[in-house]
Amino acid sequence: MNAVNIKDEIFWVGVNDYQTILFEGMWPIDQEGVSYNAYVINDEKVAIIDTVKSIKADEYIEKIKSIIGDKMVDYLIVNHMEPDHSSGITELLAEYPDMQIVGNKKTFPIMNNFYKICENLHEVCDGDTLCLGKHTLQFFMTPMVHWPESMVTYDITDKVLFSMDVFGSFKAPVGSIFDGDNDLAAFEEPTRRYYACIVGKVAGQALKALNKLGGIEIETICPSHGLIWRDNPKHILDMYVKMSAKETDPGVVIAYGSMYGCTQKAAEALAIALKSEGVGEVKLYDVAKTDISFIISDIWKYKGLFLGAPSYYGQIFPKMANLLYKLSEIRVDNHKVGFFGNYSWSGGADKNFNAFIECTKADTIDEILMIQGTPDEADVIKLKALAKKMAEAIN
Ligand code: FEO
Repeated sequence: MNAVNIKDEIFWVGVNDYQTILFEGMWPIDQEGVSYNAYVINDEKVAIIDTVKSIKADEYIEKIKSIIGDKMVDYLIVNHMEPDHSSGITELLAEYPDMQIVGNKKTFPIMNNFYKICENLHEVCDGDTLCLGKHTLQFFMTPMVHWPESMVTYDITDKVLFSMDVFGSFKAPVGSIFDGDNDLAAFEEPTRRYYACIVGKVAGQALKALNKLGGIEIETICPSHGLIWRDNPKHILDMYVKMSAKETDPGVVIAYGSMYGCTQKAAEALAIALKSEGVGEVKLYDVAKTDISFIISDIWKYKGLFLGAPSYYGQIFPKMANLLYKLSEIRVDNHKVGFFGNYSWSGGADKNFNAFIECTKADTIDEILMIQGTPDEADVIKLKALAKKMAEAIN
């Protein structure tokens, strides 16, 4: 895509990345890519808001030049230092060595550490403004959403919010960057997966940031990833408030691991029982086959959660340990949680589940149900009872 006019002198100069396989080195994006959105305000003074990942810097700079021609860049506003937005700075500085770099007091030490840049710095504080001519920009600090130095930039003139990671999503927009030209339902899961995996740990700070921004009039939202919300910014605002407040829908996620099918049989019996209890949507995931980011996305959505795993050398099945690690980081304190495990000669899975419960203070519906080998009729009766307790807990 070429540079795109958003409003008046404001242009999108971002890029789509279909090259990176794992975002942050761990979250799969190879199917639908991700966009790194950056913006130019071509006013009397030229301001650029954020860069892009350095692998796409040439395309980004080409787009900037297509808008400003031979003009110089006066300001680079650095909303966020994570390298998916900042690593193009070296290439941009090579083109515009005299530009002022706008950030806050937490931006510049990270910048110096990453890129050895310590000149032409313009420090701003919460609420400070910067006049470009027609456009006046205002800066709001949003610490820990997603890093300590994170801030957002608000164009007072056109009521446009450059919101950095906030309101972002996985999935590169194809053909058009605007919400009104895209199937919003197709962006729901990538938005939630992005939120749960990247921002979920700091949902409390995200909610604070949203409350802070609630006082300004926003007509257009320009995040650093995903769609630009020009026609219906309320759609993404409402979705972010709901996710940050950890509001859930009826339904249950069953995430299980299974070496030879015994735990899988238990998981399937549980799914059947949950359906007959009328809990709504039931999602069944094998943790060894589905990347945990997709499982976590659904866990963020649904109220009920079952975790099931075999024992493995006196501990829990390692792929489940990986999910537990991430869940203990983002916490499941808005969920009702049940556990089932399997063993052949001695336990192990229950030990890790108990440590998880202790660490997260998970709201458990019952004791951990441990099954030896293949579930028999008595075990299925216990699984049905567990499903009934979950239905009672979430309905
Ligand atoms: Fe898209 Fe926290 O960087």
